[in-house]
Amino acid sequence: MNIDKGFCMKKLIVANWKMNGSVQLAKELVRDIINGLSVLPDVLGKCEFIICPANLYMYIVRHSSATTPYITLGAQDCAAEENGAHTGDTSASMLKDSACRYVIVGHSERRIDRGETSAVIKAKAQAAHNSGMKIILCVGETLHDRQSGHAENIVRTQLLESVPETANVKNTVIAYEPVWSIGSGLVPELAEIRGMHAMIAQELEKKGWPAAEIRVLYGGSVKADNAKPILNMHEVHGALIGGASMDAAAFIAIAQTVETV
Ligand code: 13P
Repeated sequence: MNIDKGFCMKKLIVANWKMNGSVQLAKELVRDIINGLSVLPDVLGKCEFIICPANLYMYIVRHSSATTPYITLGAQDCAAEENGAHTGDTSASMLKDSACRYVIVGHSERRIDRGETSAVIKAKAQAAHNSGMKIILCVGETLHDRQSGHAENIVRTQLLESVPETANVKNTVIAYEPVWSIGSGLVPELAEIRGMHAMIAQELEKKGWPAAEIRVLYGGSVKADNAKPILNMHEVHGALIGGASMDAAAFIAIAQTVETV
C-alpha cells in the first residue's frame, strides 16, 4: 500500500475468457465466482475484479453481477470507428451502452493473429476513451524478441506507439503479457517481470502520470501456484488471466494469494 502517498490501490484481477464458453458455462462460471468471492471479505478488501467474456455472454455477466460492486464488466476488443458500415464489428459506445466499463486493446492474439498494428490499437484505445470506457492496453515481446535481446525495446515501442493522447492514469491500465508465456505454463523470472513493469511505469511517469496511481498488470500463465510472488511485487498491480479464469476455484485461488494492497 502506498501509505506514504496517501493512496491505496487494490490489485486488479482480470478474467479474459477469450473465445471460450457457452451460455451454460458462462452462467455457471460467473455464479461460482460470485458465490466464492462473496464469502471472502478479506479478498474483496484487497482485490477488484473485471470479467471480460465474449460479447455474446456479456448479458450473463452483467445480469449476474448487477448487485456485486466488486465485479466490473469488460470487453476483449472494440472497433476503432465510432459506427457505420463495419460488418461484424462492435463499437466502443455499444460496449459502454451494454454496461462495459473496460475494454482490452492490443492483446497479442489481436496484434499477431489479426495483424493489428500499434496505430490500430491506438485508434481503438482512443475510441474506448472517447466513449467513456477505460482500457487495459496489452504489450509484450515474442520469444524471438526475447532471445535476440530486444524484449525491453519492443515493449517500450509498443507502449509509446499504442498509448493515445486521451490516455491518463485514471482511464488506462497497462498489461505486460510476454507472448511466449501466454498459455505455455512458462513465466519470466520475477526480476524480469519487475524490470519490465518498472520500465513501463517510468515511461508513463515521463508523461506526467503520478507514479503512485500507475497500474501495470502481469499476464501469462498466471495460476494459483505461481501467483503469490508475482502479485505481491510492488511493481505488479494485478493480473490478466486467461486459462485459469475459466475455472472459478482457480481464479479465486489466484486472488487469495494477494497479501496486502
Ligand atoms: P493464460 O493465462 O492462459 O496464459 O492467458 C493469458 C492471457 O492472454 C490473458 O489475456
